[in-house]
Parts: sequence; C-alpha cells; structure tokens
Amino acid sequence: MSHLLQVCNLEQRFDVSPGFFDRMKVTNGRLSFKRHIVHAVNGVSFHIDRGEVFGLVGESGCGKSTIAKTIIKLYDPSGGKIRVKGEDITFYDYKQMMPIRKTVQVIFQDPYASLNPRLKVLDIITEPMVFSGQQITKADLKEKGIELLQRVGLGPEHANRYPHQFSGGQRQRIGIARALSVDPDLIIADEPVSALDVSIQAQILNLMMDLKEELGFSYLFITHDLSVVRHISDRIGIMYLGFIVETGCTEEVFKNPRHPYTRALLSAAPSVHEKLHIDPVSISGEVPTALELPRGCCFQSRCPFVFERCLRERPRLISRQPGRMESCHLLEQ
Ligand SMILES: Nc1ncnc2c1ncn2[C@@H]1O[C@H](COP(=O)(O)OP(=O)(O)OP(=O)(O)O)[C@@H](O)[C@H]1O
Ligand SMILES: [Mg+2]
Repeated sequence: MSHLLQVCNLEQRFDVSPGFFDRMKVTNGRLSFKRHIVHAVNGVSFHIDRGEVFGLVGESGCGKSTIAKTIIKLYDPSGGKIRVKGEDITFYDYKQMMPIRKTVQVIFQDPYASLNPRLKVLDIITEPMVFSGQQITKADLKEKGIELLQRVGLGPEHANRYPHQFSGGQRQRIGIARALSVDPDLIIADEPVSALDVSIQAQILNLMMDLKEELGFSYLFITHDLSVVRHISDRIGIMYLGFIVETGCTEEVFKNPRHPYTRALLSAAPSVHEKLHIDPVSISGEVPTALELPRGCCFQSRCPFVFERCLRERPRLISRQPGRMESCHLLEQ
C-alpha cells in the first residue's frame, strides 16, 4: 500500500541573485554573471504512514520550513517527487491542490501571523471547508465550527471574536481547529509551540497528541526542540544544511545516535544527553552558507572526525540496520 506522504529526493533552490549589473564580474579580462543560488533542500527523502508522527529536527536555516512549504505547494520543487496517498502532486497547481488540502493541513509557528485578522474566528476555522470545495450550508458550517472550537478547548462564546482578542495559546488552538475542520489525514506542524510560554507549550502539545489519538491522523512535526520531538515523534529525521543526515525510530536515534552531527546535537542538549549517557561530541563554528554547498560531506567543516574522503565525496544516506539510515563515510569503514 502506498504511503500517506512520500517525499523522494526533494530539492529546493532559491535564486537570490542581485540585479544584472551587480552580478557582473570581470576575472582575467573575462566577463561573467554569477548567479546566487540558495540550496535550501538537497535530495531529502522520507515517508509518513497513517497514524504516524515523523519529526524533522535541525538548527535554524537547515531547510525544515522550506520542506513544509514545498509539500503544500507554496513553491514548486526544483527537483524530486511528492506523493500523497500515492498521487504524484509534485507539479499540481492551485486548483489541482484543492482536494489535496482536505488530506494535508498545516499549522504554523506564529498563530497570529497565520490567522486573518479581519475575519471572525468562526469564519477562520471553517474557511478550509469552503476552500476545499465542500458543499455545505451556512447553518452546518456554524454547527461544525462550534464543535471544532469545543474540541480544542474553546467555546461558542469565542466564535464571533477576532484573533487579536486571544492569547498566543488560544490562537494556536484556533489554528489547530482550522486544520481539523476538513478531517485531514496529515497535519504538518511547523514549530507549533516554539512561540509560546513553556507552560502553555505543554498544554498545546498534549492537546495535539490527544486529538491525534482520538482522530487517528498523522503529523509531520517540525521543531528544533529535541525534548519536544522525543516526546511526540515515532520516527525522526535529523537535518543539516538542507540534507537529512540520519533517520530512524526516535528512541533508537536518541539512545544510539550514529551520525557525528546527531551526536553533537544531542550532546548540546543537557536535558537529553545526561539521561542517555552518550559520549559527548562537541563541534565549533557556524553552519556554512547554503549559497555554496561543499563538494563532499555537508558536515565536513565542523566534523571532529573529518578525513580525506569526506572532502571529495558526498556520503549517501544508507541503511546499515533495519529502520535506520545515516549518511557518513565514517560508518562505512
Ligand atoms: N523564499 C526564499 N527565498 C530565498 N531563500 C529562502 C527562502 N526561504 C528560505 N530560504 C533560505 O533557505 C534556507 C532554509 O530556510 P528555512 O526557513 O527552510 O529553514 P528552517 O530550518 O525552517 O529554519 P528555522 O528553524 O529558523 O525556522 C535558509 O538559508 C533560508 O535563508
Ligand atoms: Mg522554519
């Protein structure tokens, strides 16, 4: 049976070149016009099955949100394939995506920016039902809207208020109700709690997990918070510079991280590594720019174990144990 979501070798590049004349460069008497391309996502592959939570983790700028936005087709990918329930949606246009929006919904990090400030809450949460082309009367929309508000811990009295009249946590509840309105099979949650207070974060995470248990949908859960991803995900993908460098069952990856970057990431989170007793790996320096990808391994400039092969050959994501994959030459030796 086909996966609920399958992403194969996804590539996303952005042309951020300056104007024509600013790009002009003369070297050894020859004129050239160099383009500036951000390599945001580089050959990313993963799948999500029904009822599963797949977590994408990585530092800021590693391409997590770009993957989410490409899946919901805010951008056409530069390469690769996206399949939803086996259907190839890679180059679907706005109209073709309408029925897909019934299957895949999204919750964003900033609930204020993602809710239309001019609409009342009832209209906000029922909007996806209207946009997905469902034939539904106004009375039914209202009834379903109130039911959704109650499902996420709000009440009918909130239906006619505007987003600015709510707290951050309540606004995220509205975002969740909106996503649930079309009974999706997959919800992409891009840092859904990182803009909230720690105490509110736990409430929203618990709500999200309770709803998943009750309704049986799946999550693509994007975060840079390791304790959140560990708590919530069945499987995870660790990202660096637009690549997935390691993937596997969450507990397996946390107990036995194999890629040097995963080991460094877990070592840098005391709440995680002290409980796990892993050998700490420390890295220095900054993530390199996505404008010029290194020829070999994406992690070469910061890896404490780098050797000659890492500089000239890009490691492939390979499975060495069932359910686990890593891209590292060190593990091939
Ligand atoms: N529309 C765009 N045009 C040009 N570059 C972009 C665009 N969107 C993202 N990028 C670049 O692509 C890279 C990945 O960005 P992205 O927002 O996907 O990272 P992220 O992992 O979600 O980071 P964060 O954790 O901070 O949200 C970054 O280098 C970013 O500057
Ligand atoms: Mg992001």
